[in-house]
Amino acid sequence: MTSVVMNHFATNFESDYEPIDFKNSLEDFKEFQHAAHAMIFARDTERFWNALEKKAQILMHIRFDGYLGFPGGLIDKGESVLVGLQREIQEEIGLDPTCFPFANSDHVSSHINYKTKLALHFFAKEVALEEFKMLESNMMTSKEFGVEVLGPTRVPLYTMEDGYRGLPVFLNNMFIGNSRHQLLNCALKFNLLTKQEIDEALEASNRINN
Ligand code: GTP
Ligand code: MN
Ligand code: MN
Ligand code: MN
Ligand code: MN
Ligand code: MN
Repeated sequence: MTSVVMNHFATNFESDYEPIDFKNSLEDFKEFQHAAHAMIFARDTERFWNALEKKAQILMHIRFDGYLGFPGGLIDKGESVLVGLQREIQEEIGLDPTCFPFANSDHVSSHINYKTKLALHFFAKEVALEEFKMLESNMMTSKEFGVEVLGPTRVPLYTMEDGYRGLPVFLNNMFIGNSRHQLLNCALKFNLLTKQEIDEALEASNRINN
């Protein structure tokens, strides 16, 4: 539902992904590939340099193909979405599924790309800041570190005084699939950013390119 609100954010590329109901998509698109990714985040109210508010730490990573994305991946044949998500998250960031289990209630949005026959399911999990730091530093011991995953990155959620450094510049990176949309939609859902902050960041982000 929240993803519909965010449709006007979509760039041409992102607009290839249409919002779809999670449960129905599993029934109706059995022949499609399904993938699940997750945003792990912690609220962080700390201010730094006397002005900027961190707001939250969000875990993304640089992928083998140079794009930014979230941990997660393709669901294997016969595997449930949640089990596949847990497996991918363990492979990519070394997170023990028994310590940080994902549930259906962590589902945020699902999108479908009819051209590539790919359904993307997105989940989110809020953790304490100390947990976030711990799992972030453990990432480099994961099986896929140095292969599928080249490095963790946090997301700058602030905009600097000049109006473009920070989130607007970050949003000009290349994002895999509709992960930029997933990021903003999820930040809105969890009140990490307001709609106005997102709109302003996107506007500033577009100005950088023009
Ligand atoms: P392999 O094990 O090498 O197959 O990779 P994987 O299973 O980890 O798959 P991957 O994470 O690359 O996800 C599969 C597909 O989903 C990708 O080809 C992208 O099109 C898309 N994708 C990857 N990461 C994200 C993400 O963070 N968000 C979204 N929306 N799509 C993603
Ligand atoms: Mn310095
Ligand atoms: Mn993977
Ligand atoms: Mn992956
Ligand atoms: Mn995989
Ligand atoms: Mn793999």
